[in-house]
Amino acid sequence: MTLSEIEKALVSFLPEKDEYIKTVVSAMEYSLTAGGKRIRPMLTLQFAKLCGGSEECALPFACAVEMIHTYSLIHDDLPCMDDDDLRRGKPTNHKVFGEAAAVLAGDALLTLAFETVLSEKAAALNGFAKCAEAGRVLASCAGAEGMIGGQIIDIESENEARSISLERLRVMDEKKTGALIKAACLMGCISAGADETQKNAAARYAECIGLAFQIVDDMLDVTSDEATLGKPIGSDSANNKSTYVSLLGLDECKKLASRLTDEAISSLSVFSNGAEDLTALALSLRDRNQ
Ligand code: IPE
Ligand code: IPE
Ligand code: MG
Ligand code: MG
Ligand code: MG
Repeated sequence: MTLSEIEKALVSFLPEKDEYIKTVVSAMEYSLTAGGKRIRPMLTLQFAKLCGGSEECALPFACAVEMIHTYSLIHDDLPCMDDDDLRRGKPTNHKVFGEAAAVLAGDALLTLAFETVLSEKAAALNGFAKCAEAGRVLASCAGAEGMIGGQIIDIESENEARSISLERLRVMDEKKTGALIKAACLMGCISAGADETQKNAAARYAECIGLAFQIVDDMLDVTSDEATLGKPIGSDSANNKSTYVSLLGLDECKKLASRLTDEAISSLSVFSNGAEDLTALALSLRDRNQ
């Protein structure tokens, strides 16, 4: 499935912009259609295919995970969080719509994600049992034990740039970034009716690329430029963030991201064929410049 098909589907789940709610729906639409790499929905679709399902059936789940991701970025950029002004090459949501509308647009995208997983469309394609299972996985990966948990560790680790333990840093990144990537992979498996061996392999792949993804994100904050990245560089050091770069330095980060990528790729060995796309995806995430 192409990026533009994913984007069309994302927009199709947005509420109508009637006169009373048009501000918040416009704010949701602004960030949802601002671009972005769409890694998470791609992972959902790829795992659905790899496990013998179809991209069409997995599409509502893929959209749901991208909605949660987009909401997390809107909130992550707020002045009370990372206080950033640029996202996906455009002014951040709160810069355009104001803080109150940005908070609400994030909340509404979070809610819309579950509306989408439980929608008649998703149920017609997957059956309610799979929708319930997908919703459960998404909720636990997005909540306090998952992405939100990682975000609070991130905030509470500001100004500790060199003193937090490597273990705490790993837990932070596994949660703030890895958890949603894991949800994306598992929801594809769920749509396809994958068995436990396949789900375990997907979970391991996700853990490895999830951690590698955040390590590369931390590196790009130092090595890239704003025009390529579509978001400000130097944000982490300006906020005294604790990152793999602040703790280990760039060289070690590069090695670690490579090792994790190799491990992700080996976890795909349980699939006898068809894993080429996910192998290529892992490598492209390691080598990305945006
Ligand atoms: C950025 O995610 C935030 C992190 C979890 C590191 P992405 O790099 O996937 O952002 P978009 O979706 O492409 O904008
Ligand atoms: C963001 O981590 C993780 C989530 C939004 C959950 P960062 O704060 O490093 O993401 P960017 O660099 O702003 O995209
Ligand atoms: Mg952040
Ligand atoms: Mg940030
Ligand atoms: Mg970052």
